[in-house]
Amino acid sequence: MKVRKAVIPAAGLGTRMLPATKTVPKEMLPLVDKPAIQYIIEEAAAAGIEDILIVTNRAKSAMDDYFDYYPELETRLNQGGKDRELTEIRRVADLANIFYVRQKETKGLGHAIWRAKRFVGDEPFAVLLGDDVMRSDKPVIGQLIEAAEKYEASAVGVQQVGLDVIGKYCSVKTEALEERIFGVSDLVEKPRPEQVFSNYAILGRYVLSPGVFDVLENLEPGYGGEIQLTDGLSKLCRMEKMVAVDFEGRRYDTGNLKGFLEATIDFALEHPETGEWLQDFLRKKGKEL
Ligand code: G1P
Repeated sequence: MKVRKAVIPAAGLGTRMLPATKTVPKEMLPLVDKPAIQYIIEEAAAAGIEDILIVTNRAKSAMDDYFDYYPELETRLNQGGKDRELTEIRRVADLANIFYVRQKETKGLGHAIWRAKRFVGDEPFAVLLGDDVMRSDKPVIGQLIEAAEKYEASAVGVQQVGLDVIGKYCSVKTEALEERIFGVSDLVEKPRPEQVFSNYAILGRYVLSPGVFDVLENLEPGYGGEIQLTDGLSKLCRMEKMVAVDFEGRRYDTGNLKGFLEATIDFALEHPETGEWLQDFLRKKGKEL
């Protein structure tokens, strides 16, 4: 079945980016000239997703406003002949049909996804984590959708990470199916060294069957006392088919300061208005250091 819906959990407290995120949602911090959440929504839209649910909390209303029309501003831009800006803010508001639901309590990623049950209904859906911003030729979520459709399975997006850092992610038990695609038979969240299955970790992208909701509903809290999506997937992959896709693209963890700066610099180097200038600036800076 075609994947038409996506869920973006964005109800985290942003504690790794304080003090900036005390009043500005971390998803709204700009990577060059666009907020991080816009890159995620553009990725979903480019993969053919039409309806997107953002799971938010009470401190995130700036996000709803961002994807709305803004008539006063549009009139002003129109009168001032700022056609490029006008087209751009309209394009952003029309990227997809965007819906919102609040998580109400911060009880973990699995709980946030469970809040999407009514929105999703009975069809497979995509999940894009707000912190994981991708740079790729083909949308990463589109790569997963292709595999999910081919294998009639849920699909998780993985890449290899160092064994020294896998404890920050989850570890996936994989069996090769074809180039870049694996069968999944188990997963563990934030593994201790003796629990590691492989150095393949999920990096922020999933296509899930609606069967995940029944599993999440009955799940006990796991790592950190939270309802963990990975624990739900570990149950789901025993009941239904699941594949892992070693996706092509570069992933930035924009939820921490260093990843955020890496993304900012790389995106600014590619941006037509800043690319050449930044190259020059960095060369000069390099000589000074
Ligand atoms: C979450 C997931 C984890 C995944 C990671 C990167 O962890 O729980 O399985 O590997 O995102 O996408 P968090 O970064 O919220 O600790």
